[in-house]
Amino acid sequence: MPENNKLLENQIIFINGACGLIGKRFVEVCLDVGASVIAADINEQQLTVLSADLNSSQLLTLTLDLGSPEAIQQALAASIQEFGKVTALVNAAYPRNKNYGRRFFDVEYADFCENLNLNMGTTFSSCQIFARYFKEKKQGSIINLGSIYGVIAPDFDIYPDSMSMPVEYAAIKSAVIHLTKYMAQLLRKDGVRVNCISPGGVLDSQPENFLERYNAKCGLQGMLNTEHLDSTLLYLLSANSSAVTGQNIVVDDGFSL
Ligand SMILES: NC(=O)c1ccc[n+]([C@@H]2O[C@H](COP(=O)([O-])OP(=O)(O)OC[C@H]3O[C@@H](n4cnc5c(N)ncnc54)[C@H](O)[C@@H]3O)[C@@H](O)[C@H]2O)c1
Repeated sequence: MPENNKLLENQIIFINGACGLIGKRFVEVCLDVGASVIAADINEQQLTVLSADLNSSQLLTLTLDLGSPEAIQQALAASIQEFGKVTALVNAAYPRNKNYGRRFFDVEYADFCENLNLNMGTTFSSCQIFARYFKEKKQGSIINLGSIYGVIAPDFDIYPDSMSMPVEYAAIKSAVIHLTKYMAQLLRKDGVRVNCISPGGVLDSQPENFLERYNAKCGLQGMLNTEHLDSTLLYLLSANSSAVTGQNIVVDDGFSL
């Protein structure tokens, strides 16, 4: 739990993928430090659960399909109407189609293109729409989610037959990290910071034989809990990182070294 419960007081943070493994934790931790949060996700049912669980007057939930730029624009407008402004965007959604995750030689061209579109395209759209608003306001912070697999190639030997590390993921995550740098450079004189968090694997009922091999490549922690990302998120959202832009912070207990 963060020590300073007013760290993000007066901040209005828009979080995409708010019902996901990482997004849900991000919503909780931002509320814990005094921010107002717009929790956006395509999953209406999970948003209802989130809203009931957190029961906060500083939380607005919005059903949003990031595949529609018009819907993103409307969600931004609804957020400004509710809270007066938005100060940060966190992209923690993970759109993918039903064929996502096949082994390299089984991936079909149409699926590869669709998954890049779904994931990279939606990250681009939300970044573009929020950046336009932030540039106008001369303030704003955008945080994207990369991955260790946007930085290094997978060690395929640690994956059991039941698992894969998708080629689409490598393409998407390396692109997200570079999009972050591109936008940071473009917006550096506009008061808009753009950074990326690249987590290692997060615990989510992975098979034991995989965890053993994965953890052997880490320090004492091994695979992460979502809580391990709290302080990096809060740092990047807070004034403590006012001189930090275009950076990709890897949080992986040494896996990628
Ligand atoms: N979980 C991990 O181990 C891990 C590790 C490194 C990086 N990441 C990255 O963190 C981010 C979040 O991952 P996660 O594990 O929390 O994913 P998740 O699958 O648990 O959650 C993703 C959320 O995105 C939402 N979503 C999907 N399509 C959408 C759309 N079109 N519009 C709006 N919302 C949509 C889903 O409903 C879901 O709530 C991703 O970018 C992922 O690549 C995850």
